[in-house]
Amino acid sequence: MAYRYEPLTKQHDRAGFRCAIAPLNIYLQQIARKDAERHVAAAFVMVDDAAPATIVGYYTLSAFAVDVAELPEAMQQKLPRYPRLSATLLGRLARDERFPGTGSLLLMDALVRAHQKSAEIASLAVVADAKNSAALAFYRKFGFAQLGSNPNRVFLPMGTIEKLVAG
Ligand SMILES: CC(C)(COP(=O)(O)OP(=O)(O)OC[C@H]1O[C@@H](n2cnc3c(N)ncnc32)[C@H](O)[C@@H]1OP(=O)(O)O)[C@@H](O)C(=O)NCCC(=O)NCCS
Repeated sequence: MAYRYEPLTKQHDRAGFRCAIAPLNIYLQQIARKDAERHVAAAFVMVDDAAPATIVGYYTLSAFAVDVAELPEAMQQKLPRYPRLSATLLGRLARDERFPGTGSLLLMDALVRAHQKSAEIASLAVVADAKNSAALAFYRKFGFAQLGSNPNRVFLPMGTIEKLVAG
């Protein structure tokens, strides 16, 4: 399969998308395009070249502000003394049940895109909210660590992503 990643458009079959978490289906089907138009979140889909209307998976990115006090002490010490610094929110990420094993490809594309954009608008980390313990385990596998006191909110420093992308 030759996958490609592109912004969500009307040409993609949103109604046919099914992942295990119903709110993530509803979001893609009813809200994602509106959020893009309202400049709230940019949605990207993963499609197979051979069937480009079928959505294999999707994710959203938005600008975000991190409370510096929520970052690990060692990281805080290397940062300027502003209360908040810019980051990238990976608001939603899901793959269709018909395409197991594509979640990591989807995540990698989100991280590569966030890293590329950070060359023009700086971002010190990618932040994600895990919807359940399985999602948390998935993010932890890639090195995401807890951000602040919310156990479901995780982050990966842009420096780590830079190394991942280079490797
Ligand atoms: C979470 C999700 C994206 C994972 O997709 P996937 O296609 O199963 O992921 P991959 O197979 O590419 O997994 C990558 C790695 O994460 C691990 N992983 C995936 N799901 C896991 C889980 N529930 N618990 C522990 N590890 C998990 C895999 O074992 C794999 O590691 P390996 O390469 O060492 O085997 C997918 O299950 C999904 O879309 N779920 C519904 C929506 C969701 O939970 N989104 C997360 C944000 S809230």
